[in-house]
Amino acid sequence: MTVHFIGAGPGAADLLTLRGRDLIARSPVCLYAGSLVPQGVLAFCPQGARIVDTAPLSLDAILAEMENAHAQGMDVARLHSGDLSIWSAAGEQMRRLDRLGIPYTMTPGVPAFAAAAAALKRELTLPEVAQSLVLTRTSGRASAMPPTETLEVFARSRATLAIHLSIHALARVVAELTPHYGADCPVAIVFRASWPDERILRATLGRIEALVAAEPMERTALILVGAALAAEEFRESALYDAGYDRRFRPRGGD
Ligand SMILES: C[S@@+](CC[C@H](N)C(=O)[O-])C[C@H]1O[C@@H](n2cnc3c(N)ncnc32)[C@H](O)[C@@H]1O
Repeated sequence: MTVHFIGAGPGAADLLTLRGRDLIARSPVCLYAGSLVPQGVLAFCPQGARIVDTAPLSLDAILAEMENAHAQGMDVARLHSGDLSIWSAAGEQMRRLDRLGIPYTMTPGVPAFAAAAAALKRELTLPEVAQSLVLTRTSGRASAMPPTETLEVFARSRATLAIHLSIHALARVVAELTPHYGADCPVAIVFRASWPDERILRATLGRIEALVAAEPMERTALILVGAALAAEEFRESALYDAGYDRRFRPRGGD
């Protein structure tokens, strides 16, 4: 028996990996993390599977489900939205499973920031404009940010920022970033990327608050900030430059 942690992707069921789909299809128990995991993904569960929304459950209750399945020799598909490596709470579950001696696997998923970039049709790293992407959030009621990871710290780099879990704190985000990026810096907010009700707002740091006030967005939205969101005059990458010598296309070759 194994618990399979699976990144269920950003929303659209066809953004689930093939491996994730196959593991779901052969697990008689499916534990999924609330409304961010779409019904379309749950449709891959086998007939008669025990399907449990864990949003209202405590960590103890979730582990009890896993232990129960373990006792019956039944595999568990444990679904979290996006990818498992960021803000999934998989870490604490795996630590408990280690202590209980219950085996588990991890299957990655498409993260929300990648789905948001696709919705925007933008590359988030562009030559000489931005070569780093910071995946971050602001502090919430239940989770304080480490003091070395404030928005201000990241803003000094002027890298592209993908700010999660923070749409409710947009005013604070704008106030902390504007001194570093400038009021003209491009911003995009992608609400429910890849879901049928996906929405996109594009503006600048100076104008984004007014736009959101006119078209309110709640909860499942990503704030992207940085010059790469609108840059047009960037250098082409050396990788495909005809004059660039590289292993698979030596200079002078075809
Ligand atoms: C608890 S985190 C989960 C992140 C997820 N593990 C991932 O890999 O993207 C939830 C936050 O991710 C962002 N998010 C998740 N799904 C999203 C989507 N489809 N569109 C926009 N933002 C999304 C929002 O900022 C939301 O508040």
